[in-house]
Amino acid sequence: MDDLTLALPDAAATLALGSRLARALVPGLSIWLRGDLGAGKTTLTRGVLRELGFTGRVKSPTYTLVELYELPRFNLYHFDLYRFADPDEWEDAGFREYFNPASVCLVEWPDKAGGRMPAPDLAVELEFRDEGRVADVRSFSAMGMACVERLKSS
Ligand SMILES: Nc1ncnc2c1ncn2[C@@H]1O[C@H](COP(=O)(O)OP(=O)(O)OP(=O)(O)O)[C@@H](O)[C@H]1O
Ligand SMILES: [Mg+2]
Repeated sequence: MDDLTLALPDAAATLALGSRLARALVPGLSIWLRGDLGAGKTTLTRGVLRELGFTGRVKSPTYTLVELYELPRFNLYHFDLYRFADPDEWEDAGFREYFNPASVCLVEWPDKAGGRMPAPDLAVELEFRDEGRVADVRSFSAMGMACVERLKSS
């Protein structure tokens, strides 16, 4: 069962969900963003970062695999593992350290890590529906569940 399902008729709705999610975040959360190419994962991340006061360009870390945003309340790591190929790179790059109680991780294409990543607290699955998208939000921990509750009441 999904904890929360939301219709996102246009890109503005995806950004707005990002804003809501941003307000529900606490340090330590790890969130997987699933969905096909172009489903809106980076758009959602952009909405999160805008709400948290980041005014620069939010680019997809397609080649660098991860982008760090040093925000007032926590460090936010935005992963895009689409081109992740070498499992050894996971350890070598020190990605494991990014998943810690003081940071928030948003991960596009988590399944490309082949099980290297710690389990998430929350997963957002974006699916195509007509011209827009549908978001399914699911929690996998008490922290994730609390985040969904804050999201629902926002
Ligand atoms: N709810 C929506 N309805 C319609 N279009 C949307 C919606 N959300 C985002 N888009 C549009 O979809 C396009 C692709 O979005 P985005 O780059 O965020 O996808 P992505 O999931 O990150 O893709 P990739 O897997 O390639 O990284 C953008 O043009 C964005 O404006
Ligand atoms: Mg993307």
